[in-house]
Amino acid sequence: MMYILRPCAIALCLSISFTTPSAAAGEPAPEWLLHGRDATEQRYSPLTRINRSNVARLGLAWTFDDFVVRGRTHRGVEATPLMHDGVLYFTGPWSVVYAIDARSGAQRWFYDPEVDGAWARRACCDAVNRGVALHKGTLYVGTLDGWLVALDAHSGKLKWRVDTLIDRSRDYTITGAPRIAGDHIVIGNGGAELGVRGYVSAYDAGTGRLSWRFFTIPGPGPDEHPEVALARGTWGKDARWDIGGGGTVWDSMTYDPDLGLLYVGVGNGGPWPAWVRNGGERHDNLFLSSIVALDATTGRMAWYYQTTPGDSWDYTATQNMILADLPIGGRTRKVLMQAPKNGFFYVLDRESGELLSAKPYTTVTWASHVDPASGKPAISPGALYAGSPKLVWPSPAGGHNWPPMAFSPQSSLAYIPVLEMPLRFSTDAGPTPYIPGDYNTAATVSPPDPRTDAALLGASPPFAMQSVLKAWDPAAGRVSWQSAPMPYWGGGVLATAGGLVVQGSADGVLVAYDASTGHVLKRIETGLAIMAPPITYAIGGEQYIVVPAGMGGAMKVGYFPGYAALEYANRERLFAFRLDGKPVPLPDRVAPAPVYPLPDGLPTDPDTLAAGEKLYTRHCARCHAARGAKSGYPDLWNLSPAVDDAFDAIVLEGALGQAGMARFADVLDARDTLAIRAWLAADARALRAHLSTPAR
Ligand code: HEC
Repeated sequence: MMYILRPCAIALCLSISFTTPSAAAGEPAPEWLLHGRDATEQRYSPLTRINRSNVARLGLAWTFDDFVVRGRTHRGVEATPLMHDGVLYFTGPWSVVYAIDARSGAQRWFYDPEVDGAWARRACCDAVNRGVALHKGTLYVGTLDGWLVALDAHSGKLKWRVDTLIDRSRDYTITGAPRIAGDHIVIGNGGAELGVRGYVSAYDAGTGRLSWRFFTIPGPGPDEHPEVALARGTWGKDARWDIGGGGTVWDSMTYDPDLGLLYVGVGNGGPWPAWVRNGGERHDNLFLSSIVALDATTGRMAWYYQTTPGDSWDYTATQNMILADLPIGGRTRKVLMQAPKNGFFYVLDRESGELLSAKPYTTVTWASHVDPASGKPAISPGALYAGSPKLVWPSPAGGHNWPPMAFSPQSSLAYIPVLEMPLRFSTDAGPTPYIPGDYNTAATVSPPDPRTDAALLGASPPFAMQSVLKAWDPAAGRVSWQSAPMPYWGGGVLATAGGLVVQGSADGVLVAYDASTGHVLKRIETGLAIMAPPITYAIGGEQYIVVPAGMGGAMKVGYFPGYAALEYANRERLFAFRLDGKPVPLPDRVAPAPVYPLPDGLPTDPDTLAAGEKLYTRHCARCHAARGAKSGYPDLWNLSPAVDDAFDAIVLEGALGQAGMARFADVLDARDTLAIRAWLAADARALRAHLSTPAR
């Protein structure tokens, strides 16, 4: 346990034992006020009541279970809760905001923006939300369908809302938390896979009036601001503006109040392959996969750093950015740290944008290294999949995705939830039409098949599919310790002055590690996937560790081995832990689904079945998974007769629209749905025959 030793009167020493040394010293109150706790977004709490020596006593204080659930699918919970003045503020699926008592979990109010359920079709990765911003008594949330909403924090009453979308016919969504930058509220959006052009918008915190908007890439029309003109020179003259280009700011922004700079993490290109995106050429494509520093008052750019020029692998630079003062090269530098998807850990001078270091924190094969002088990666020709499929590390899920890393100034280590997996990339043959409401990536990714991809596998580092928590020394550019592997993938991270690092994972286990050694000090089984980052706060002398749980997001489409959701019924739940709490009650076991008879009388001719399979793969597989795979969406290989009868009402007319199953009448007709049904039934028949054949 770490004590800050200082001379003190007895009375003060006593009060320290009830609060915390830092709180007693007049440092930040034991609250969690901003997305990353404070302006550094380090996700590091000065609280020490729960610490190395006693965390073994951590147990359940209470849970909050009253989430708004639509239809039959439970959704991912990704929010970082905020805690102020005894109230916890967080979001659940469908952009619903909750305010609950931080001591008891009792609900104060909730606000449901009543997002159109069909909007879920526009989301790449579930109807999730990563949290609210709190500023001068007002709460801000971005909704899945593109609104920025301001609520009275006390009552939950709507103050105002503004439409942040420039074009509601395009597939924009908001899943990220708004950020406060001075007196502005800033919000971006997602949609690069579906064909949009990225931008961020800053609104006056009081009135909701638009202050400025920064487009992260050029578009088909005239350049809106000088940075767009600068970027245009880095795009092909026949660039596919009709597909949008990508560059969405779907998650991370960090504001440095001292410098007045807002750091914006820009996403991947759309479509994915740079050669398709640029009309047959390859270009760097500013400001895709870049960190852009903007003057928060004017929205003008101070500097940029592009992590992945000519991104072709979905390598977003939207991962969380942490600010710190680090001794580098004999002097203290104001740095910004990011572990973007592309596998390199970047340390930048946040005043100038100068690259201080870029070292791989996981297996990287798309580039051999980053040249310190030019700041550019040396891209491996073997990562470009224009001519033939390539196996590339990291996968499009990245070496690190949205679950935020943390940084402890006490240990000077960053704690990264690392994903270790390569995928096989290939390009779709033929032309690439823009299809509204669908993936427009022009690329296919899949795990390598040992039978057909032996050559690719032979030339690659050994295949893996796992998550690990890595303690990364940013000054030395190397791993200090790493956890045992956990199922793909691990959740966000909390670091504390009690010498703890806390992280949950898809297996439903919350683990407290010793921040300096990585020793496991406590494991708590919850039965629910934990993707969100834990937070901590103190109230009434008690320190709580709080974490939302619930499987979803990108992982909802196909469960990996080891997932809690394979064993326990998935649901949304927020856990609060404290010392000497209770054991965690596990959720109900997954009930086996009844096996329904397969429909008769459907077409069985090869052309119809082939058409059905193609349509399913194109329009449905991104949610309903693959044959036989367990996922968070209904299993279409086992439809009840009633649902099969209602197939067209569901798929063409939107009967389950509110629950997130949008209508597809814009791209399908009754002949198409018949083909899909026919193929599903035929394939289910084949699958059942296969499963009932005794193994020899
Ligand atoms: C964006 C995700 C998404 C996509 C894409 C999607 N679905 Fe769905 N689908 C859902 C959700 C969510 C439900 C469950 C709704 C509920 O809770 O009632 C569902 C339910 C269904 C059901 C009812 C299943 C049952 O057992 O009750 C059918 C049938 C269906 N979908 C067919 C399709 C077809 C066919 C396609 C492709 C044309 C498709 N879906 C594409 C999300 C999706």
